[in-house]
Amino acid sequence: MTSQQTVLIVHPPGVVRAALVAAMREAGLRTSEADDLLSAGRLLAEENPDAVVTELRLADGSGSELVARAAGRDDAPVIVAISEKPETRETVIALRSGALDVIERPCSPERVLATLQPALLDRARRMQRRRTEARPASNPRPAIVGQSPAIKAVMEQVARAASAHDTTVLVQGESGTGKELVARAIHYDGPRNERPFMAINCAALNESLLEAELFGYEKGAFTGANGTGRKGLFEAADGGTVFLDEIGEMSAPLQAKLLRVLQESSFKRVGGTQDVNVDVRIIAATNRDLWEEVALGRFRKDLYFRLNVLPIRMPTLQERQLDVAPMAQHFLEHFARALRKPVQGLSADALRMLQEHSWPGNVRELRNVCEYAVIVCDGALVEPRHLALSEHAQPRRQESSTTSTATRESSSVSTINGCTLTVKDRSLRSMEVELIRMVLEQTRFNIARTARELGINRSTLYNKMKDYGLCREERHELRQTV
Ligand SMILES: Nc1ncnc2c1ncn2[C@@H]1O[C@H](COP(=O)(O)OP(=O)(O)OP(=O)(O)O)[C@@H](O)[C@H]1O
Ligand SMILES: [Mg+2]
Repeated sequence: MTSQQTVLIVHPPGVVRAALVAAMREAGLRTSEADDLLSAGRLLAEENPDAVVTELRLADGSGSELVARAAGRDDAPVIVAISEKPETRETVIALRSGALDVIERPCSPERVLATLQPALLDRARRMQRRRTEARPASNPRPAIVGQSPAIKAVMEQVARAASAHDTTVLVQGESGTGKELVARAIHYDGPRNERPFMAINCAALNESLLEAELFGYEKGAFTGANGTGRKGLFEAADGGTVFLDEIGEMSAPLQAKLLRVLQESSFKRVGGTQDVNVDVRIIAATNRDLWEEVALGRFRKDLYFRLNVLPIRMPTLQERQLDVAPMAQHFLEHFARALRKPVQGLSADALRMLQEHSWPGNVRELRNVCEYAVIVCDGALVEPRHLALSEHAQPRRQESSTTSTATRESSSVSTINGCTLTVKDRSLRSMEVELIRMVLEQTRFNIARTARELGINRSTLYNKMKDYGLCREERHELRQTV
């Protein structure tokens, strides 16, 4: 452990704090001290400590707010909380918000130190590695925030992919889970980072425009083609990375052309006869089940295997609940800086609301909620009234709450894309049944479109229709058989 490491001790003044300070100093650590949340927030920002030891019950609020704030920082410190009882709601919130451990009062300084030391050692090693690997500032690498096992596994895969110079990567996951973020991280962490990263959404253009965009065209290749011809993305990204988003939407002829790029590193411009050779790494992403597309004959099997050399599956935000607090803090700080607002973090109630939300729109939804909160909040802490959470998403945990029984009994009406969704109660199941029913009716039972609009694959849709007994009657109307 390096002697420069600093521990911020947040505790009312008295013998306990003095004993903690003495033990930390004895162990070669520098200490700084705060009585309450307010001064702790200031020291956190000014001193960027390596560890925070905080009492959860503070004079001006809950220590779990500080935990979330600290855990959301880039290079988050190691956090240990001290609580009266280990099973309180506060303790659970602190752990979910990013505390390494919560130690029961009366706590011995030795116990706190024994918890901190291995984590501080890890942190020192990590910082050292980062310093030696530091890249020039001209390569902005997006921060992947999170500390859940699921996102840590993704970070490891990103590191592996970055060091594998040419290997093609396929990133799969629901919309808003961070697929593009991961693609950028792989590029900027890898040896191609001095060369361009070029992204294109294959679903946004029709086939001929996409072909011209990707492969370029020769002069006179088609009406409107500009006089001199033009380089496509693959040529422009030579030496760098091309990110093909929504690859599942690519037409069969373009899939064939892409396969050739992967096999031979060459292609012809639209209207061209000469082969163009390029050195690009390809990262593809999709929110569809690409293997299912292969099974349905819509995606080439050979291309699938060429793309899927290094697969990365992005977990939904619901699968990494531990990340909600640090991510929210990260986005709040980002928007507070950008919008010059005084927002510093979340109140304990607001944090709990975010942790209980089901996040159907994943990280993008959380980011939007935080942006809105910063816009409407004029104080230091975001409160529940500043959170615009989607109505149709159900709180995560509701079985044990008495209020949820009451709300479940009342019917509810939500408006989605201008259409009214009426459900007999507010259980997630009823919402889902009615949402599927509504989209099926709107698309006139077009299964592919319905699945796309709902952001699920077709087999999942079929299974849900079977489970919920949703089927089409002769007159093309929907009925539910159960
Ligand atoms: N782990 C993370 N840490 C910080 N920001 C994140 C993280 N994951 C996602 N984001 C942010 O959330 C937003 C959505 O991420 P991104 O665009 O990469 O998702 P996506 O999976 O490509 O979505 P879509 O399928 O809709 O294109 C972006 O602003 C991104 O920077
Ligand atoms: Mg994307």
